[in-house]
This record gives sequence, C-alpha cells and structure tokens, in this order.
Amino acid sequence: MARRSLLVGFGGFLPDRVVTNDELAARLETSDEWIRTRTGISQRHIAGPNDTATSMGAEAARRALEYAGLTADDIDAVIVGTSTPDQAFPATAVRIQAELGMKQGFGFDLAAACSGFIFALSTAHAFIRSGQARNVLVIGSEVYSRIVDWSDRGTCVLFGDGAGAVVLSGTDEPGTEGLLSTHLHSDGSAGDLLYVDGAVGRRDMSGHLKMSGRDVFRHAVAKLSSSVDEALQAEGLEYKDVSWLVPHQANIRIIEGVGKKLNLPAERVVVTVDRHANTSAASIPLALDEAVRDGRIQKGDLVLMEALGGGLTWGSALARF
Ligand code: UT7
Repeated sequence: MARRSLLVGFGGFLPDRVVTNDELAARLETSDEWIRTRTGISQRHIAGPNDTATSMGAEAARRALEYAGLTADDIDAVIVGTSTPDQAFPATAVRIQAELGMKQGFGFDLAAACSGFIFALSTAHAFIRSGQARNVLVIGSEVYSRIVDWSDRGTCVLFGDGAGAVVLSGTDEPGTEGLLSTHLHSDGSAGDLLYVDGAVGRRDMSGHLKMSGRDVFRHAVAKLSSSVDEALQAEGLEYKDVSWLVPHQANIRIIEGVGKKLNLPAERVVVTVDRHANTSAASIPLALDEAVRDGRIQKGDLVLMEALGGGLTWGSALARF
C-alpha cells in the first residue's frame, strides 16, 4: 500500500483589525448592500504594520504544530503558498523556518495565487509519498491589502489578510484516512483575467491587483465544477459521499453554485467569506481550521477542497479525515 498523508494539525491567524463594509463605504463609492449581495462579504481582517506573510504564517504554523502535538523539530519541509511574500527572497517558508527555530529540513514558496494551498498540499503529498519528507507544514499566508488598489471599488472590497496552516504527516500503517488525491490545472492563456501588474522584476509597473471579475466568475463556476467531478471520479466516489465542501472563499455565489452541484445542503459547506473575505491561498486552511476546531468536521468525514485563482490556476483535493 502506498504511503498515506494524514492531516494531523490545523492552525489559523487573522490580524486584529476588522474592516466592515460600512467603513469602506465611507471612503469609496460602494455600499454594504452591494458587497453583501454580490459577494457574501460583510467584513475582512486587515494586516497591521507588523503583520507580514512571514509573521502570520509562523503563527498559524505554531498553532497547527500544537494541534498536532508536534514541535518544529519534527518538521522536514515547509511549503508556503503566497503571492505576497515579504521579500523576493529568502522565501517566506525559509523565514518561517527561522521563526520556528528550525535548523533541519527545507522550505520554499509556491506561487499559484488563490489556488496556492491546493498546489502546496499536492506538493507536500508528493514529497511524503516519495519518502523525501515525513512531516510537512503546508501554509497559505497572504497580505492582499498591500497589493489591492484601494481606489478600485471593483477589487479592493473583495480581499482580506490572514494565514492558515496544516501539518501533513506520512504513515505506512494500513488505513483509509488521509489525502486521497489532488488534481491541479493551469492555463496561462487566461493570465490577463486576474493578475498583479508588477513585482520586484518589474518595478516600472504599479504592483496592483487587476481583475476582470465577470470573466473570472464564469471560469470559476465551470472549472470548479469539472474539478470536483474529476476528484470524485478519480476515487470512484459520488456526490452523495461528500461530507463537507471546503472551498476557496472568493464569492458566496460561486461557493453556493458548487455546493448545489454536489447536492450538498448549505450547512455542509464551510463558509468564512462573510467574515474573512477572500484571503487567497490562506482561505482553505483557515476554513479547515475553523471547521475542525468547532467539531463540524469529524473523523471519517470525506472533505472536498477546491480553488481557482490568477494564472489561471485551479484544482481540487479530496481527503478522508
Ligand atoms: O479568488 C480568485 C478568484 N476570484 C473570483 O472568483 C472573483 C470572481 N468574480 C466575482 O466574484 C464577481 O464578478 C465580482 C464580485 C468581482 C463582481 O460581481 P458582478 O456581479 O460580476 O459585478 P460586475 O463586475 O458585473 O459589476 C456590476 C456593477 C458595475 O456597474 P455597471 O457597469 O453595471 O454600472 C460595477 O461598476 O457593479 C459596479 N460595481 C460596484 N458597485 C458598488 C463594481 N464594484 C462595486 C462596488 N460597489 N464595490
């Protein structure tokens, strides 16, 4: 039997400062009503001056390690999905290694925008299966408040900051729980639908997030639908087998669309977009952390995760808890 990857630790971190829709409406031509009805978002957490992808990711990682009953000395690899690193290099993952006091193992960042956590989870699973790592910290950490254009009401109201982490742990013991499969996709020909105009390699550009919201919405509904089908078909499972949908949290209308397709009642879909807004690569591990800690996700449950983001990148992961 192939080595399995168990999800053994969960942690999240949200900055203290909460910004409501009304607060945004006081300085932008928008309204709480527009934001809530079009997106499901009521508020978002926004990083303070000392919150960075590294500091937030490290805190989420500490909480995930504590949940797992492991210490940083037990970790072989740190993989961080982020589009908002503190520096071009060292990687956020390596900075987090240092924050955790890790001298062993390796770390690197992975850029897949809002799909970053699914891509990082898949990469960690491959390291575990190949025997290159036993315990891996998989982190999504983002400060989109530093890349959105705060004068563009079409994008700035959609995002929030935060970090989430999962400890993935390899085992050779027979059993059915763990990550069953992951499915990754990207299509660069749609890269201009959602992108950041600039980075350290292009300082001549503004460095702001740009999005053709309606087009991304259309892609999200179609691609996430086919992605959940792909995950279930790969494991010979059906919609009725899914206990929980833990989707990337971009827009409640997209989330509900996928939930409906699966024929899942709303209370079986983990939703945080109302309080967190879109935290990109952090949104799925933050949602997992919440639903595991409050007892919604139980041992034996089949959990389906899916995400789509700039790239376009998209994918899904299926796990038995
Ligand atoms: O995580 C990565 C993946 N990202 C996504 O999945 C996001 C996908 N897209 C979406 O969620 C939606 O397209 C949005 C929430 C971004 C926009 O919703 P929409 O229903 O597609 O609205 P729209 O862009 O078609 O805009 C409708 C109207 C426009 O006005 P006109 O042209 O009809 O007069 C916009 O100018 O709403 C206007 N508008 C706003 N009005 C008030 C756009 N943003 C705002 C705003 N407040 N914040």
